[in-house]
Amino acid sequence: MDAKTGSNIKTATLSVGDQSWSFPVYEGTVGPSVIDISKLYGQTGMFTYDPGFTSTASCESKITYIDGEEGVLLYRGYPIEQLAERGDFLETCYLLLYGDLPNAAQKQDFVKRVTYHTMVHEQMSRFFQGFRRDAHPMAIMTGCVGALSAFYHDSTDISDPHQRMVASIRMIAKMPTLAAMAYKYSVGQPFMYPKNNLDYSSNFLQMCFAVPCEEYKPNPVLARAMDRIFILHADHEQNASTSTVRLAGSSGANPFACIAAGCASLWGPAHGGANEAALKMLAEIGTPDRIPEFIKRAKDPKDPFRLMGFGHRVYKNYDPRAKIMQRTCHEVLQEVGITHDPLLEVAMELERVALNDEYFIEKKLYPNVDYYSGITLKAMGFPTSMFTVLFAVARTVGWIAQWKEMIEDPSQKIGRPRQLYTGATRRDYVPMESRK
Ligand code: ACO
Repeated sequence: MDAKTGSNIKTATLSVGDQSWSFPVYEGTVGPSVIDISKLYGQTGMFTYDPGFTSTASCESKITYIDGEEGVLLYRGYPIEQLAERGDFLETCYLLLYGDLPNAAQKQDFVKRVTYHTMVHEQMSRFFQGFRRDAHPMAIMTGCVGALSAFYHDSTDISDPHQRMVASIRMIAKMPTLAAMAYKYSVGQPFMYPKNNLDYSSNFLQMCFAVPCEEYKPNPVLARAMDRIFILHADHEQNASTSTVRLAGSSGANPFACIAAGCASLWGPAHGGANEAALKMLAEIGTPDRIPEFIKRAKDPKDPFRLMGFGHRVYKNYDPRAKIMQRTCHEVLQEVGITHDPLLEVAMELERVALNDEYFIEKKLYPNVDYYSGITLKAMGFPTSMFTVLFAVARTVGWIAQWKEMIEDPSQKIGRPRQLYTGATRRDYVPMESRK
């Protein structure tokens, strides 16, 4: 029984010295239970201490479930493998936003709504002119996504459910357009407008790789691969960028500003930047004979080097997305005619060596989704600087679904963590002439 809503409430007892307190324990539908410590400070005068939130559930959610020990990822209960093999990205977006897979009419209506929101305000293109041509596309994205709130005032009233949904659709529809514009700007080519006769992923490839002077026919294998990559990255429960979006939104900030905050968080190499880092690492290794040297470095506690694309805060097993990514990688390489890719060769051998090495086995370090995505995206024609941008396009639906869930949660409060203060105690101001 869900102890939060029903009876049979279990409790956890905390003892400090000769005092003890009881706190309710809530059970989810699957996964670890939580101890509700929201009254802890009021009752004990103490805070909990959990840097990096390794043992802290920051919210209640019905969207995504991960079993890191078993390597399971479910969106609204559906295994990622089934969605990636049998579904498509917009269907996945509907699922994450509304909670169930759409029927045929709902799907058609949703696809239409997204399709007819893909253009961005023409004035947005002027924003791009203000950036240096060599600006990182994530710098451009962070700025331009935040700037959307200056253009779509009619969907920034977060208390209106209709406006919340319009903002959600707009975000899903416009992110690929902005991402493609960031890419086109960096290569000095004209922006390509969206084409409403193409599906979401084909349209994205068209906006990235077409030029106005030539006919462009999206490759269905590459479009399917893009769609699958979007599905794999669509949501991942309370990761760093999603928690950032929730925290930004908890103050009542508008959804466009919150997603811009998510982009900023995603940019870091320990999060969305890992596929770029993994690809650089594979290139640095270069040939399989150099693998032992890098494995040795990864195991050396004095060396900061880590195997990029390996290990995960939550997965202590094979990341289920990595398996699908590996298959997609092979399909893409075959389609673009790369019969022998030195990076893939190094990646597969490095994976084999690491998975048989005591250090990686003991620490439960397995390839994560980023390990093979860099090779795949490179083969599709994207420069490494665009990798995190593609991740942001995919994750937008997860961010917005989590943001909506938070706004619609009656128990939602402004996020305000506390701290263990270890700085100076009170002291008086010292005039300059008396300072040493
Ligand atoms: N290579 C070598 N050793 C590693 C690696 C790695 N990739 N990852 C973790 N370890 C070791 C650590 O040195 C540590 O060893 P210790 O216990 O002897 O100190 C132990 O494994 C645990 O590592 P933590 O950093 O404490 O684990 P945490 O859960 O905090 O980190 C993280 C997870 C950041 C993903 C880490 O595994 C890492 O840096 N991986 C490489 C970067 C990467 O691929 N990030 C992508 C994440 S997926 C995503 O964002 C979509």
